[in-house]
Amino acid sequence: MDATLRTTLCDLLGIDYPIIQSGMGRVAGPDLAAEVSRAGGLGILAGLHLAPDALRAQIRRVRELTDRPFGVNLWLHTEIRPPVDAARIPEATVRAVHGALNRFRARLGIPEAWGRPERLPDLVDAAFEVILEERVPVWSIGLGDPGPGMVRRCHERGIKVIAMVATVEDARTVARSGVDAIVAQGSEAGGHRSTWVKPRSRDGASVGLAALVPEIVDAVGVPVIAAGGIVDGRGMVAALALGAEGVLLGTRFVATRESMAPEFWKRALLERTSDATTVTDAFTGLYARALRNTFAGEYEASGAPVLPGLLQAGAAQDIYAEAVRRGDGEYFPMLAGQSAGLIHDLPGAGDVVRRIVAEARDVLTHLARRVREGR
Ligand SMILES: Cc1cc2nc3c(=O)[nH]c(=O)nc-3n(C[C@H](O)[C@H](O)[C@H](O)COP(=O)(O)O)c2cc1C
Repeated sequence: MDATLRTTLCDLLGIDYPIIQSGMGRVAGPDLAAEVSRAGGLGILAGLHLAPDALRAQIRRVRELTDRPFGVNLWLHTEIRPPVDAARIPEATVRAVHGALNRFRARLGIPEAWGRPERLPDLVDAAFEVILEERVPVWSIGLGDPGPGMVRRCHERGIKVIAMVATVEDARTVARSGVDAIVAQGSEAGGHRSTWVKPRSRDGASVGLAALVPEIVDAVGVPVIAAGGIVDGRGMVAALALGAEGVLLGTRFVATRESMAPEFWKRALLERTSDATTVTDAFTGLYARALRNTFAGEYEASGAPVLPGLLQAGAAQDIYAEAVRRGDGEYFPMLAGQSAGLIHDLPGAGDVVRRIVAEARDVLTHLARRVREGR
């Protein structure tokens, strides 16, 4: 093991390298999480959308594949815990949303729809109980503050808690709740902005990683993990230089063999450059960074309203399913960060971890030589 890359985070989480794979919804299953953990990083299962029995089965599957530490990710956003009641959305809003979506349906050859999306199942609290019962080593939180009560229940069972934030105010809040480590999510990051109340515009909670990480490091007393735009050893060393104790990667792991993302999404990541992403709420109702495509562009241009968190995704579910059936990325939320331009291959997830470690060692050696030799 390479001692130069060990940080306090490794001791805290019981891992060899401070490299964490994001628990990405519908992308990170047992194969991906176990492969990352086997390579010495921390793999995280996506708990969002999973009913308690399915989550328990996935946790047990990870344990069949590896005896290394791993995590489970849940969202705690105020619009999904509890889910917004779809019955309270005005009929005119539902019709305006479908008015925009029906243009896509016509092109994809699927029937028009005008119905109200169903209320989402209320899964978060049941999933949390499964995490406690199964004594999962790490609970990872996106889009939420667990509060001291949930953190205490984890700590009573030896479960470590890490929470992801996009502002220094939110970092202070989750630190007060007692979390063990904080993920600082820079605006480069793929996926949803990690806030628990939707910002008023896409510019809200949108601070670049180079400014956000040191600001949060200076504000809290727990280890900080950098997330957003990191795919290789260069990014990892830069994050450590900013004061982070580790890195969390999402987009890089979408483009791996073990990721459950459809092939057209993985291929798109190989082809696109760093300016190919946009931040939009058109896909799910909450702001997320994704590859720019026909759906995002035309939905926004239509001026149609957007339903609350995840109900928007519920309303468009038939379109996304048809896009997957056709292998058509133009009508599917291909969540991705600005690191898309740095992804050129589809390796195994364990190879990603090993490669980052080797590259980071090379960068450190090179930097030390430059300083020593004064050039
Ligand atoms: C496809 C995708 C899905 C994601 N899903 C989740 C999720 O379910 N929960 C979560 O906490 N973060 C999620 N994220 C955000 C990541 O945790 C992280 O902030 C981000 O991936 C880091 O930036 P990067 O994509 O440039 O590596 C997701 C990111 C991507 C790209």
